[in-house]
Amino acid sequence: MGFLKGKRALITGVASNRSIAWGIAQSMAREGAELVLTYENDKLGGRAEKFAAELGSAKTILCDVSQDSNIAEMKDELAKHWDHLDILVHSIAYAPREELEGMYLDAVTREGFRTAHEISSYSFAALAKSLRSMMAEGGAMLTLSYIGAERSMPGYNVMGLAKASLEANVRYLAQSLGGEGIRVNGISAGPIKTLAAAGIKGLKQMLQFYEVTAPLGRGVTTEEVGNTAAFLCSDLASGITGEITYVDGGFNTVGISPRIAEET
Ligand SMILES: NC(=O)c1ccc[n+]([C@@H]2O[C@H](COP(=O)([O-])OP(=O)(O)OC[C@H]3O[C@@H](n4cnc5c(N)ncnc54)[C@H](O)[C@@H]3O)[C@@H](O)[C@H]2O)c1
Repeated sequence: MGFLKGKRALITGVASNRSIAWGIAQSMAREGAELVLTYENDKLGGRAEKFAAELGSAKTILCDVSQDSNIAEMKDELAKHWDHLDILVHSIAYAPREELEGMYLDAVTREGFRTAHEISSYSFAALAKSLRSMMAEGGAMLTLSYIGAERSMPGYNVMGLAKASLEANVRYLAQSLGGEGIRVNGISAGPIKTLAAAGIKGLKQMLQFYEVTAPLGRGVTTEEVGNTAAFLCSDLASGITGEITYVDGGFNTVGISPRIAEET
């Protein structure tokens, strides 16, 4: 029997078969969860339906997190389908492409800063606000971050600041919802070539640097992130909340890699 048997999970952010959310959806379905997938706009609706069909009977609902009305409509639609929710996965980020070029200070603008923070961080709180009433029996919420929240990374720019805000969001949401039996956690994943990551210049070099630096000597897969997500959202992780868990092959633990030392 899967360790998520009987759990109902709402998963945002499946845009392609490379999406981290797709890895999470597959792991959760394998462990027995029933799923609903949300999609950002009509253009992605057909794809979402195709992915949902691959998972069996998953339902799909439109949800553009930039609109409170859209979040409310999504919740109403979800409430018609399920009387409660156990798991929310927030796998959403966006910054205008020009913000992810060159040096942070040259690229950052007031509007780009606002958009990146609103879509990539506030939206987690907005979804939590809307869906907590469907988690009256407790549950788990999860989001996806990156080490650019803590350290400057080339081309990550304003997204790093938005991820720092998102990680703080995890801690404050955990505090706000702990009394309701709802756990809130984040995964800081290593770089993976997805649609969102493709916008970052130098991604190829970044992936190569992980191979040289991370103790595992390689990057990570969406399946590995998915398996950790499934664990964190399951009752196996009932004592864990407010945490950011790294799934990055150990990259964050290294000062200087022996592989670099050997080469010099
Ligand atoms: N790929 C990586 O290297 C990496 C590493 C660490 C963390 N992450 C994070 O993982 C999460 C998922 O990204 P991904 O890499 O799987 O890329 P992806 O492009 O597959 O997913 C990003 C998702 O965000 C959704 N989105 C953007 N704006 C939205 C809006 N207004 N409303 C609703 N949905 C919206 C897109 O539709 C898409 O499904 C993001 O938070 C990303 O920052 C990615």
